[in-house]
Amino acid sequence: MNDLDLRRLLGDLAEREKRNRLADDGAAVQRLAARVEREPRTIRVALERAKVDARTGCRLGGENGREVLVRPGERRGPLRGLPDVVLERHGWSIGARIDSLAVTTARTLFAPLGPTYDRYSALLSFGQDPRWRRFLVSRLDVRADDTVLDVATGTGLVARELVRRFGCSVVGIDQSPEMLAVAAERVRGLPIELREARAEELPFADGQFAALTFTYLLRYVDDPAATVRGLVRVVRPGGTIAMLEFGLPHGVWRPPWELWVRAGLPVAGRLISPGWQDVGGFLGPSIREFWRQYDPVELFRAAGVDDVRAQRLSLGGGVVVWGRRG
Ligand SMILES: C[S@@+](CC[C@H](N)C(=O)[O-])C[C@H]1O[C@@H](n2cnc3c(N)ncnc32)[C@H](O)[C@@H]1O
Repeated sequence: MNDLDLRRLLGDLAEREKRNRLADDGAAVQRLAARVEREPRTIRVALERAKVDARTGCRLGGENGREVLVRPGERRGPLRGLPDVVLERHGWSIGARIDSLAVTTARTLFAPLGPTYDRYSALLSFGQDPRWRRFLVSRLDVRADDTVLDVATGTGLVARELVRRFGCSVVGIDQSPEMLAVAAERVRGLPIELREARAEELPFADGQFAALTFTYLLRYVDDPAATVRGLVRVVRPGGTIAMLEFGLPHGVWRPPWELWVRAGLPVAGRLISPGWQDVGGFLGPSIREFWRQYDPVELFRAAGVDDVRAQRLSLGGGVVVWGRRG
C-alpha cells in the first residue's frame, strides 16, 4: 500500500463526527504554525491528538474514552519501515499527549540530518562541540577492556572519541535508524556495536556497563528524571556517567546567544537544507525550555549519582555534567 492509498484508507476509516471535532480553529492554527517539511503527517497527528485531549480536560470519559484513534504508522519486525495503520486508545491526560509530541519531534527532526550532521553540528556551534565531546569523554574513568554505553549516539561521534581515548569497546544506541545508518559507515572497523533503542527503554541488564555517556538527549524525552534513573541503572556501582547538553549563557553573553538562536541559526539552517532549517528554528526554544524546567545536576543526584560535578564550556554554550554511580 503506498502513501496515497494509506491516506485514502484513513479518510474512509475516520468518522465524520470525529473529523469535524478535530478540525476546530485552535488545531488549525497549531497545524499551520508547525513548519515541517519531512514527515509532516507525524507532527500533525501529534498536534491533533494534543488538541483532542485539551478539549476533553484531564480525562477522556464515556464514549470518547472507549474509542480508538486511527493513525498512519510503520510496521515493526521484519517488515519494518512499510506503512501500516495503527489503532490506539486516547491518552489519559494533556501531559501525556504533549510528551508524545516531544518524542515525535526527535524522530522527525533527526531523520534527514545523518549525512551532514558531523559537519554542520561543528559549524553551527562555531567549532566548539567537538571540543565539548572531548571534555565529556575525558571525565570518564575507563580501561581498555571496559565496555561503555553511549546513548543517543547519533552518527557515533562520542563513541568514536571513546575508542580513540581509551581503546575500549562501545555500545552505541539511538532511536533514529537514519542516524545509525550513517554511524555504521563511520565506525566501521572500530569496536563499536550499534543498536536501535530508546533511552527510556534500555534493553540491558543492571550494572552491565563500566561507564555511560549521553549527548543532547534530555530535551527529547518525556520524563528526564525517569530517563536518567534508567540510564544510571545499567552502569555498575562506581562507574562514571557523563552527559553533554547545550547551555544557556549568563550575563553579557546571553544577548549574543539570543541573537544567534533567534536570527543567526534559523537563517544559517535555511541556507543549508530543509532539515537544518527545522533544527535552526527548534533549538533555541528547546534549550531555553529545558533549563527552565530542569537542573541536570539535581537529576543526577536524584538518580543515585555521587560526586556530581558540572562544567560550563565556551561561555556557557555547552555544559558537561558527570559523576559516579553510588
Ligand atoms: C543532537 S544528536 C546527538 C548525537 C551525538 N551523540 C553527538 O555527539 O552529537 C541527538 C540524538 O539523540 C537521539 N535521540 C533523541 N531521543 C532519543 C531517545 N529517546 N532515545 C535514544 N536516542 C534519542 C536522536 O536520534 C539523535 O541522534
